[in-house]
Amino acid sequence: MKKILFAASEGNPFIKTGGLADVVGALPKYLEKEKFDVRVFLPKYLCIPEGYRQKMKYVTEFHADMPREKEYIGIYEAKAEGIHYYFIDNEYYFAGDSPYHQIFEDVNKFAFFCRAVLASLPELGFCPDIIHCHDWQTGLIPVFLDAFYREHEFYRKIKTVMTIHNQKFQGRWRIDDIENCRDLPANYRYGAMEAYGETNFLKAGILYADRVNAVSETYAKEIQGQTGGEGLDGVMREVSNKLSGIVNGIDNTEYDPMTDPQLAAHFDVKTIGRKKKNKEVLQSTLGLRRDKSAMVIGMVSRMTQQKGFDLVREVLEEMMNTLNVQVAVLGTGEEQFQDFFRHFDWKYPDRISATIGYSEETAHLIYGGADAFLMPSQFEPCGLSQLISMRYGTIPIVRETGGLKDTVEPYNEIWHTGNGFSFANYNAREMLMIVRYAYDVFCNHPKEWGAMMKRCMNADHSWQNSARKYEKMYLELV
Ligand code: ADP
Ligand code: GLC
Repeated sequence: MKKILFAASEGNPFIKTGGLADVVGALPKYLEKEKFDVRVFLPKYLCIPEGYRQKMKYVTEFHADMPREKEYIGIYEAKAEGIHYYFIDNEYYFAGDSPYHQIFEDVNKFAFFCRAVLASLPELGFCPDIIHCHDWQTGLIPVFLDAFYREHEFYRKIKTVMTIHNQKFQGRWRIDDIENCRDLPANYRYGAMEAYGETNFLKAGILYADRVNAVSETYAKEIQGQTGGEGLDGVMREVSNKLSGIVNGIDNTEYDPMTDPQLAAHFDVKTIGRKKKNKEVLQSTLGLRRDKSAMVIGMVSRMTQQKGFDLVREVLEEMMNTLNVQVAVLGTGEEQFQDFFRHFDWKYPDRISATIGYSEETAHLIYGGADAFLMPSQFEPCGLSQLISMRYGTIPIVRETGGLKDTVEPYNEIWHTGNGFSFANYNAREMLMIVRYAYDVFCNHPKEWGAMMKRCMNADHSWQNSARKYEKMYLELV
């Protein structure tokens, strides 16, 4: 039995702001139980919903040497769908109404988390074969392991994996101002941890981890180039011998149109006709005009530059004036995009609905009821929303980047293949052209559209395949 420890800043069902939580919550369930004992470490944020906090049981507490002083580390545990979770408690760091705050606070907070995870292991008597780190927040685990723990017998054989979910976020701050890194020797702080004169958690993790992977094959290539590298492309090329791409899956039990409690009508590929009912409910719930012939385009997303909202902003008016489409958008993020959609919601009250906020319920309503799902990302390491929408027979319209390119096969009207629509360049006109094309198929070739919906639902984007790839990587390492 190999012991795997996941360390991450968010994980479903306890705390989620995006796809990272989906991956951390689902992948452990799909690793073979007979071969892998997987446990997940998360911070015990005060903002974890009360219902989940109450399920946590106190395990132990101790004080560990930290640069500031000896600091309290509490450990709590909970089980979710058979997976063992540990929560690191310290309210000095993990208070507040969201997991992330200002970057200068976050770097210190997650440096603490990394140290606390390592310090907890002997207390729990759990010595993992592999620590699987996710994103910059856990990038210092391989560094602290190397700097402070290696000489202890307990830690000697532990290997580390670093998964890059988003290279844009690197955890960068002034070297001398991160309190919880102060006692690291200078050769770390001014060596591998440094990039462009700042501490860089992601770069440090990438250099010190035994294996590195990105969340799709295309993204693994893109981050080695200037455009996708976000300043670290040189580092990525340097580590290319230990770098791979493993595409994410989705949790098919959580996202199942046959059982989803949020859906008015359950359906599978054989009963796909029932999806119509969900469209009606979506329209009436969100105040959209009851119109079967309108193509409802859904968007569920963080509202940031990454997700391509500036393209939508450029052509939405024209789209509304020339096509019988309706738009149902759900998301939070940058003010400029929130305001833009609020305005359009006001301008086209029965054709555009903007829900600004975070809502699982509305998300499922949109995935289940929309005809198409728009994701024109500027870059997309993997993307889960397009996979979820396909599972619900909602046809994705995406830009060919990262995981979107790897998971959406463009429609081919000659061969009658494909499960979505895609465009290549980050350009609003190109996006509009492909939306028009999708609209034409939707209106004028309903049989083709219906067959594509089925191909979406039949495509297997579950974790089954990718979990085997992670298993292989773990076994190669130990
Ligand atoms: P990212 O992690 O970059 O935000 P992904 O496509 O990988 O993008 O994953 C996003 C996840 O977060 C999906 O499960 C999506 O449904 C969910 N999500 C995003 N925004 C919201 C929101 N406002 N309300 C509910 N769920 C959301
Ligand atoms: C990041 C990426 C997204 C990916 C998710 C899970 O948030 O932006 O593309 O699907 O992580 O790996």
